[in-house]
Amino acid sequence: MTFDFSALPGRLLPWYEQNRRDLPWRRDREPYHVWLSEIMLQQTRVEAVKGYYARFLAALPTVEALAEADPELCHKLWEGLGYYSRVRNLQKAAQVIVQDLSGVFPRDYAGIRALPGVGDYTAGAIGSISFELPTPAVDGNVLRVAARLALDDRPVDRPAVKRELTAALAEIYPRGRCGDFTQALMELGATVCLPGGAPRCEACPLSDLCEAHGAGAELTVPVRTAKKPRRQEAMTVFVLEAPQGLALRKRPNTGLLAGLWELPHVPGLLEPAEALDQAAAWGIRVTELQRQAEKRHIFTHVEWEMRGYYLLCEAGGDFTWADQAQRSGGCALPTAFRQFLEESTTHRD
Ligand code: ADE
Repeated sequence: MTFDFSALPGRLLPWYEQNRRDLPWRRDREPYHVWLSEIMLQQTRVEAVKGYYARFLAALPTVEALAEADPELCHKLWEGLGYYSRVRNLQKAAQVIVQDLSGVFPRDYAGIRALPGVGDYTAGAIGSISFELPTPAVDGNVLRVAARLALDDRPVDRPAVKRELTAALAEIYPRGRCGDFTQALMELGATVCLPGGAPRCEACPLSDLCEAHGAGAELTVPVRTAKKPRRQEAMTVFVLEAPQGLALRKRPNTGLLAGLWELPHVPGLLEPAEALDQAAAWGIRVTELQRQAEKRHIFTHVEWEMRGYYLLCEAGGDFTWADQAQRSGGCALPTAFRQFLEESTTHRD
């Protein structure tokens, strides 16, 4: 790659001063705040993160508080954000900081990168924003900006391409403005150099330098390698409601949605009579059955096709029967399952 990125700081920093969004995690550079926000912002939109960020810090205002928190509270604070291993790793890393590092957040790239759940992107973001290190934070937004500027049509998700773009950016990081430069690149990718067919080149401070724009090729880069199709799994989900509450069970401690609560479910799409047989096999006496609309939930590598049944019943079987207070207090129920409750909670009066 031959593109010269050296003009970027001079162009982007003044643009960022004028155009930066006022976001809660931009009000200080405290590493705990930067770290938490960057972990939340992976895979989740800025608007959705704002509320989660405020609630998380209100409940767990320090790394020490996070290290000592009940893991169920951590799950609860994350409920609906998805990718729950992120919050488990946050807590593990907080414990490492408190127990092994005397409560002091590591200040060098290798130390930050060694924390559980912290990859190259997050380490680059914390290093530059909190500690003014010349460490780029290269996510999909920044890859898109760099690939378009350089009209680089190699797949940006290939590790070698990502490494090369990261190294090229690291060379031109402006000393003393590293944090602002990281955020300026992110901001350009998030608000101007938009993905797909929507780049706002007329608002871009780099458009005259951009080789993709010069060639009219904004829409052909970045290129990504084709993804493997997601595995499809069909299942039948049961909302079992007894006077004591809803039947929940805990997922295994490894794998998808590890350690979270779930609604009982079985593989395959059952007909109503089969659903009643299944309830009987669990030792549950049913007084009413209603079929719910089918739902889908998309994870990174799997897609669930779910048929739901709402069953009014007596408590039994090997389940935890949780009332509303328990469900909003301690039992974090992933969105894949929660969508069935939104339909069914009005049934019992
Ligand atoms: N996306 C990822 N990190 C971000 C940040 N710090 N500000 C805005 N959007 C982001």
